Amino acid sequence: MAIYLNGKAASQSIKDEVRERVSALKEKGTDVALAVILVGDDPASRIYVNNKQKACDYTGIGSFTYELPEDTGEEELLRLIEQLNDTDSVSGILVQMPLPAGIDENAVINAIDPLKDVDGFHPLNIGKMFTGDDALISCTPAGIMELLKRNGVEIEGKECVIVGRSNNVSKPLAILMLRENATVTICHSKTKDLKKVCKKADILITAIGKPGFFGRDSIKKGAVIVDVGINRDDSGKLRGDVDHEAVDDMVSYITPVPGGVGPMTVAMLMKNCVDAAERKR
Ligand code: GUN
Repeated sequence: MAIYLNGKAASQSIKDEVRERVSALKEKGTDVALAVILVGDDPASRIYVNNKQKACDYTGIGSFTYELPEDTGEEELLRLIEQLNDTDSVSGILVQMPLPAGIDENAVINAIDPLKDVDGFHPLNIGKMFTGDDALISCTPAGIMELLKRNGVEIEGKECVIVGRSNNVSKPLAILMLRENATVTICHSKTKDLKKVCKKADILITAIGKPGFFGRDSIKKGAVIVDVGINRDDSGKLRGDVDHEAVDDMVSYITPVPGGVGPMTVAMLMKNCVDAAERKR
């Protein structure tokens, strides 16, 4: 029987810690606030934005939400970011992705003040993360590291295989794992013998968006599984990239879906907001 890496519980502890820090800052006269910009009406993005607002309410972080229409131009969005960069009461800025076609996501990310870049997407923060300098770090990979650490999962010297090559999860996670002295392999859809590579992993991280793709033939006995996939199967049920029922008796730890990595992302966003406010102070 695998041990579940309970993201809900860890996320709750982190939000409680953030709440205390926010309250201490308030006593010293510093408010913490997050500005969220949502362009268009993507239903999944709206759910994510609502979850972020709820977490702000819980932790005492102020939230300003800017809902812009689908046909908003890049110039207008960049102007709003400039304005928020210059607003002292805003500690963090998050532009919900994906953006409508026609808006250059990189231009938007580059426009955010790196000190307010609570997503950790700005090249300056990515560069600092590479060199181990103090930086705002992308929330999902930071959340995965925190979940493993809080559950006592050892990382040093382990074979860590990451499946997926996204800028917001897999690539930064590889660097964070390397910083903790893991041996890291990143694989993707063009990797030869993908399942064979996965089978050598002590820690397997899957982020490909294919429900139940990884089964017993991809996993080493006793491995730690971090399932970043959030997919709806044909019956509408949420499923990860791993076939959890099939591998449950052969893995040591596994993140459930839902309730594993997902809640950690929001918690780490709250942590980044209070880190940003403390740094500014
Ligand atoms: N869309 C999906 N995940 C994320 C995220 O972590 N940050 C932003 N800004 N948009 C997203």
